[in-house]
Amino acid sequence: MRFLILAAFLISSTLAIKVPATSYFTYHHGGSIPSQNAAIGPQFSQPVNYYGSFLDSSLKVPTQMCPPTPPPCTKSRYRSLDGSCNNLYNPSWGVANSRYGRLLTPRYGDGVSSPTASVTGHELPNARLISLTVFGESDVPDRGLTIANMQWGQIVTHDMSLTAGGTQSRKHTTRCCTDDGKLIQSGLHSTCFPIIVPKNDPAHSQTGTECMNFVRTLTDRDNFCPDKTQKSYAEQLSVVTAYMDLSHVYGNSEEQNRPIRSFVSGRLLVDNKQGFEYPPQHPNASTTCDLQTPQETCYLGGDMRINQNPGLTIMQIILLREHNRIADNLQALNQHWDDETIFQEARRINIAQFQHVNYYEWLPIMLGHENMLKNELIYQTSHGDYVNDYNPNIDPSVLNSHATAAFRYFHTQIEGQLDFVAEERTISNTIRLSDWFNRPVVVESGDNFDFLSRGMTTQPQETTDINNDVEVKHFLFRRGRPFGLDLKAFDIQRNRDHGLASYNDFREFCGVGRAHGWQDFIDFISPANVDKLKALYESHEDVELTVGGALERHVDGALAGPTFLCILTEQFYRTRVADRFFYERGDSNTAFTSEQLNEIRKTSMARLFCDNGNNIQQMQPAAFRRVSPNNQITSCSNIPYVDLSLWRDHSVPAFKSDYTIYNAPLLVKN
Ligand code: HEM
Ligand SMILES: *[C@@H]1O[C@H](CO)[C@@H](O)[C@H](O)[C@H]1NC(C)=O
Repeated sequence: MRFLILAAFLISSTLAIKVPATSYFTYHHGGSIPSQNAAIGPQFSQPVNYYGSFLDSSLKVPTQMCPPTPPPCTKSRYRSLDGSCNNLYNPSWGVANSRYGRLLTPRYGDGVSSPTASVTGHELPNARLISLTVFGESDVPDRGLTIANMQWGQIVTHDMSLTAGGTQSRKHTTRCCTDDGKLIQSGLHSTCFPIIVPKNDPAHSQTGTECMNFVRTLTDRDNFCPDKTQKSYAEQLSVVTAYMDLSHVYGNSEEQNRPIRSFVSGRLLVDNKQGFEYPPQHPNASTTCDLQTPQETCYLGGDMRINQNPGLTIMQIILLREHNRIADNLQALNQHWDDETIFQEARRINIAQFQHVNYYEWLPIMLGHENMLKNELIYQTSHGDYVNDYNPNIDPSVLNSHATAAFRYFHTQIEGQLDFVAEERTISNTIRLSDWFNRPVVVESGDNFDFLSRGMTTQPQETTDINNDVEVKHFLFRRGRPFGLDLKAFDIQRNRDHGLASYNDFREFCGVGRAHGWQDFIDFISPANVDKLKALYESHEDVELTVGGALERHVDGALAGPTFLCILTEQFYRTRVADRFFYERGDSNTAFTSEQLNEIRKTSMARLFCDNGNNIQQMQPAAFRRVSPNNQITSCSNIPYVDLSLWRDHSVPAFKSDYTIYNAPLLVKN
C-alpha cells in the first residue's frame, strides 16, 4: 500500500564535479523499499480528516479551517470544489485546509514545532545574511525561455498549495516589527518569527530597517478541529486543494465559488470594461489591494493571490476568459443544457486543458522530457490513447519539501522589469514590478493587457541560477517605500518555520548520497559555494534544503539539481496518479471520449494567449520559448485549437428534457 521511491543513482564520476548524463535518474514507483535509516526514513503522511462536528464555538477558530461534514461520496462525473471525494476510499485526501505531506521526519528545534536550530543547539545563521552572501542578484536573461514560462510556474503553484494563516502580499495583521522596521520588544505574538536585518545591510541600513515581519504558518496544532490522527510533531496546513484542478479559478469551496459565478449559461462572473471581460471587483478592495485611490481595481478570484503581480493576474484572467469561452461554445452547441451542466462541463474541459499544458508543454522544460517519460509522469501516446494509471493508494497531498523548498527554487526565474510589447514586437514601455504589486489596475487600462501578454512571451525570463532579481530581493511588496522584503530570505525562513529535514537528509533520501563532511558536498555544489556555506553554518548537517538544493548544478535536460529534481518528480508523479479525474484516463464514469481527448491534446499556451487576449493577432507556437528560427511568430490562425464541436450532445433530442447529466452521464458516443 505504501508508496516509496528508490532513486537509483549511477554516479559515474572520477572527477569530483561533473554534470551527470541525461538518463541520470530512475525512480521505481510502486515498489516497497524499507528505509535504511529509521531516524530519517521516509514517512508518508496521511492527511488529517477534519470532518466531524465542531464542538466548542467559543474557541474562535477560523471556521474555514474546519470543513463541514461532506455528504457521503457519490460517484459524480465532476470534481467537488474542495477536493473531497476525489479519492472514494479516503474522501478527505487532498481537500482544502489539510496538511502538507512529509517525505522525511521534520527537524524542529524542540522536536515538536519550534523553528529548526543548529545541531549545536544554537540559532541557524541569519536568513537575510544567507540571501546576501550566498545568493547573487545579477541580471542574466535566459537564453531560451520567456517570462511566460516563469509566470505559468506561479499559476501551477497557486493551484496546488497556499500556507494557512498568511496574507501573502497583503500587510499581515500580526505585527512582529513596527511599521518603521523595528523589532517589537515585548509581547511578541506566538506566531512571530521575524527576520532580523544585519547591521551592514546594503539596502536596509540606508533606511534604518532592522526587522522584516514574518508570521509562522498555522499548523494542525493551532487548529482545534476534531482530529484523531495528530502526530508527535506539528504539520503545516494548506488552505487550497492539493489537486491540479484550477481551484484558483473556481475557488476551494461553495462559499468561494458562489460570488464568482454568474449562474447564467455556465459562466463565471465578469465585469465588462471597454468590451473585455475582467474578474469582478473584490468587496473588500481597500484591505486586499494596495490601492492609490479607493475606486481602483482589485479583483475577486478563486484565489486570494490573484492581485499579487501583473503577470499572475493576466494568467488568472486568461484562465477565467477560457472558461467563459468554452461555456459559450457549449451553450451554442447544446441549447438544452442548463447553467449547472454547462458550468461543470466547461470547468472539466478547462481543467483538462490546464493539465495538458502543465504535463506536456511546461513541466518537460522544468523537469526534463526524458526524466518525465522515464518516471511515468508523461507517456508517448498517439491520438486519443488513454493512460490508465490511477492509483487510489497514493496520497495527493502537496509535499512540504516541494512547496517550501524545491518548487520555490524557481523564484530565481522572476524578471523584475516588464516590457510592453506591440503586435510587431517592438517595446513601447517598461514597468517596474515593485510599483505594481497588489495593484492590478495596470492590466486593464488601455491596451495594456495585450502589451503585457506579448511582453511575457517576448521578453526572456531570468536564468535559473543562484541569482534573484533585485525587485524581489530588496523591493518585494514595498508599497511605495524605498525598500521592501526579500523573497529569498523569506524562503529560507519558511524552511525553518516548517522544520524541513536538512539538505543532507534529502540528499540521502534522494539517493544523491549522505555527506559526511563539507567536502562531500562538492559533487554537486561548487567548492566556492561550499566554502561560503562553511563560513556561515556551524555544521554541514545544518545546511537547509532551500539553500543546499538551490546551489546544486542542474541535471542535464532539467532546470534543477538532483535533490530538488527528485522532490519535484515525486510531487508531479503523485499529482497525476492520485487524481481520479486526471484527463488522460479512460474510466467510463469520468473519461473524455477518445476523440475529445485527442482534441484536448492540441491545447497550448500560445493558443490560450491567442484566444483570450483582447486582440492578440500573432504568437510563436511555443509561447514558453523565445522567438527563434524554429519558433517564429505566426498568425494565431496557424496555431492548433481544440475543436469544441466534439462536445455536441447527441443523447437528447433538441427539445428540453428532464434528463440530468448526473444520473446518466452521456455525451458524444461515436
Ligand atoms: C513575480 C513572481 C512571484 C512572486 C512575487 C512570488 C512571491 C511569493 C511569495 C511572497 C510567497 C510567500 C512567501 C512566504 O511567506 O513564505 C511565495 C510562495 C511560493 N512561491 Fe512564489 N512568487 C513568484 C513566482 C513564483 C514562481 C515562478 C514559482 C514556481 C515556479 C513560485 C513558487 C512558489 C511556491 C511553491 C510558494 C509556496 C506556496 C505555498 O505552499 O504557500 N513562485 N511566492
Ligand atoms: C470582506 O470582509 C468581510 C468583513 O470582514 C468578511 O466577512 C468577508 O468574508 C470579506 N470578503 C472577502 C471576499 O474576503
